Amino acid sequence: MDIRTVAVHGGERPPGENNGSVVFPLYHGTIYEVPEGAGYHDIVYPRLSSTPSQVYLHDKLAALEGGEAAVATASGMAAITTSLMALLKPGDHLLALNALYGGTYDFLREHADDFGWECTYVSPTEPAEWEQACRDTTRVFFVETITNPLVRVPRLAEVAAFCQERGIRSVIDNTFATPVNFRPLEAGFDLVCHSATKYLNGHSDVVAGAVVGSDELVGRVRKQLNHLGGSLDAYAGALLARGLKTLALRVAAHNANASALATFLAGHRGVAEVNYPALPSHPDHDHAVKLLSGFGGMLSLRLSGEEAGDARARQLIGRLRLAANTPSLGGVETLVTQPARSSHAGLPPEDRAVLGITEGLVRVSVGVEALEDLVADWAQALDRLL
Ligand SMILES: Cc1ncc(COP(=O)(O)O)c(C=O)c1O
Repeated sequence: MDIRTVAVHGGERPPGENNGSVVFPLYHGTIYEVPEGAGYHDIVYPRLSSTPSQVYLHDKLAALEGGEAAVATASGMAAITTSLMALLKPGDHLLALNALYGGTYDFLREHADDFGWECTYVSPTEPAEWEQACRDTTRVFFVETITNPLVRVPRLAEVAAFCQERGIRSVIDNTFATPVNFRPLEAGFDLVCHSATKYLNGHSDVVAGAVVGSDELVGRVRKQLNHLGGSLDAYAGALLARGLKTLALRVAAHNANASALATFLAGHRGVAEVNYPALPSHPDHDHAVKLLSGFGGMLSLRLSGEEAGDARARQLIGRLRLAANTPSLGGVETLVTQPARSSHAGLPPEDRAVLGITEGLVRVSVGVEALEDLVADWAQALDRLL
């Protein structure tokens, strides 16, 4: 079925099972009676992610990503770290993109050694580098569908094939694309992680994560999660399930607004560069068109002119009336941030320069407001800078 239908009906129960309630009820209790003869695996307890509300949410997440199983986690970072800990053992090697989300990158940089993992960072678009970096001990290749903040699209079909040929687990953070724009399991990936804090929930009021894949792999992640304790709280889970029902509608609106705003910005003389994969000028445009059903709501830009650095980027942000200055993303409202001051502030300036994250770079999470209002807002802010 179409993803708009899956978002509404996936994982839902017949109302007759819930006293006629069409909307799945919130089970917030922590204690559930144990039936006669039940074993440890039958225990219903929130940390074990086994309450009726959690199981319902897992079914909905699995339906949306087209996986056999899913587990919700207390944050996106809990999804990522728990998955890596479930798949890797001391002495194992992993390949990871050199342009990862800052939290994932910091986790690997600061803690891979503690777990006895060796990690090599590779370019998203240079398969020859992966081949060179691969070892007999390589067990996982960790990628993101669309990178932050330059919105590069890795060679995802090649990553999945590379891993399948070598028996390496391919794990993808699909936060920026969502299953509306890219379906990693259908493309051959083994495990999908999400920061559900972003588009999956979509209303900037929940911190959550999700892991989706086969029964076997999600089972391993869930066992690890039981021990680490990063299960999702009942209230956050109920809000997330509600947000998921409008995922396809929201992402369609983000796609349309971001495409149109990117085109407008690229044509404005105050803007030197717009990074958005739908634009033919984007370095990954040709393969992104084949991979993605939509290009998402994230874009970034640099202003034109000699002094287009930190101060001018801040002036632009200050003049926008419809965009809040905040480092998060994926909500209905338009958000802007300077990655050099937020997500990538922890990196030394020379490392940021190598990644192309200059002080003047502005990242935009394009919301679902009316396009004409967004364009008018950006026009007035940019025109006043000229
Ligand atoms: C791509 C990506 N993955 C993971 C995360 C971490 O998610 P959370 O903040 O829910 O832990 C983020 C957060 O910004 C993100 O942008």
